[in-house]
Amino acid sequence: MPQERIVSPKPRPDETAAETSLRPRRLAEYIGQEKVKESLRITIAASQKRKETLDHILLYGPPGLGKTTLANIIAAELGVSIRITSGPAIERAGDMAAILTNLSPGDALFIDEVHRLARPVEEILYPAMEDFALDIVIGKGPTARSIRLKIPHFTLIGATTRYAMMSPPLRDRFGAVHRLDFYSPDAMREIVARSAQILNVAIEPAAVLEIAQRSRGTPRVANRILKRVRDYAEVMADGRITMPVAAEALKRLEVDGLGLDQMDRKVLHAVIEKFDGGPVGLETIATSISEEADTIMDVYEPFLIQLGFLGRTPRGRVATRAAYDYLQKPYPKSRAQAEANQATLFGQ
Ligand SMILES: Nc1ncnc2c1ncn2[C@@H]1O[C@H](COP(=O)(O)OP(=O)(O)OP(=O)(O)O)[C@@H](O)[C@H]1O
Ligand SMILES: [Mg+2]
Repeated sequence: MPQERIVSPKPRPDETAAETSLRPRRLAEYIGQEKVKESLRITIAASQKRKETLDHILLYGPPGLGKTTLANIIAAELGVSIRITSGPAIERAGDMAAILTNLSPGDALFIDEVHRLARPVEEILYPAMEDFALDIVIGKGPTARSIRLKIPHFTLIGATTRYAMMSPPLRDRFGAVHRLDFYSPDAMREIVARSAQILNVAIEPAAVLEIAQRSRGTPRVANRILKRVRDYAEVMADGRITMPVAAEALKRLEVDGLGLDQMDRKVLHAVIEKFDGGPVGLETIATSISEEADTIMDVYEPFLIQLGFLGRTPRGRVATRAAYDYLQKPYPKSRAQAEANQATLFGQ
């Protein structure tokens, strides 16, 4: 049986409908990310007061943290319609132009995976974002001329897991850039409790805490684990998620106390055992464990860095002492020595 990726924060094809039902609809329902919410509240209120369209907003951060959810909420708070599309879905410049000319004044346009827009498509967006205009070339050769077409004022909401891959001219045209971070333990508890209530399943506070702790600060993972634990409770017990039921179900899912699964451990093992703790390039790690570099970069690495198990250096990824401890491997003396020397050098 293929290993089930329970912790992978990427959406699975079967998840779309379920996600819709658990998705918060308004800012007040959106748990955590306090700084982002506060800032959005202010800019939304200000734009409404001035009766202007909201400035373009870019949301970025690892998968499953609530970018799509937030985009829908922004439109709801503004009381405008939202048109949803994604970078790879818009193939030609003409498609982009058609989307833009069909917007109604004030509408929100959500472009997911905005880092994957083709360059000619992106170029249509520049004047659209800046001046609410389309520059269209009519005719060919020496008689060609460019005309400027006005389009309705709109708010572009872009989402990406890869801020670094966005072209600077596109990045610069967003009035606000919000980074979503992994959720705090308190926020994760609230999210699990809220989802359990919507799913109408009885759950003990201790089990809420346990699921929250193992969900790697990611709401999508929390919801997925909660559903799997609920299935287990229904089939193997009386439907209530008690602590023993949750513990047993989680054991079967092979998610450990920190929320790490086999793939995370594979990555750490590779860096430590095959590459002496690094530095080692991401591509090399990926090849050595037969996984795609993109998946490791988007899905696994951010949380391992958040835990302080992996470090990023200009020469590649390195495993930290915490990672050695976690895998119960002795920390190499040479590394400890090098760190001690470094500390003396900087007078620490
Ligand atoms: N702040 C939140 N409070 C409660 N639930 C949330 C919150 N953020 C996200 N969720 C839940 O997590 C699920 C995943 O969120 P969402 O689809 O918005 O993530 P995403 O950042 O767009 O991910 P991707 O990068 O894969 O597109 C949502 O269906 C929702 O149920
Ligand atoms: Mg999304």
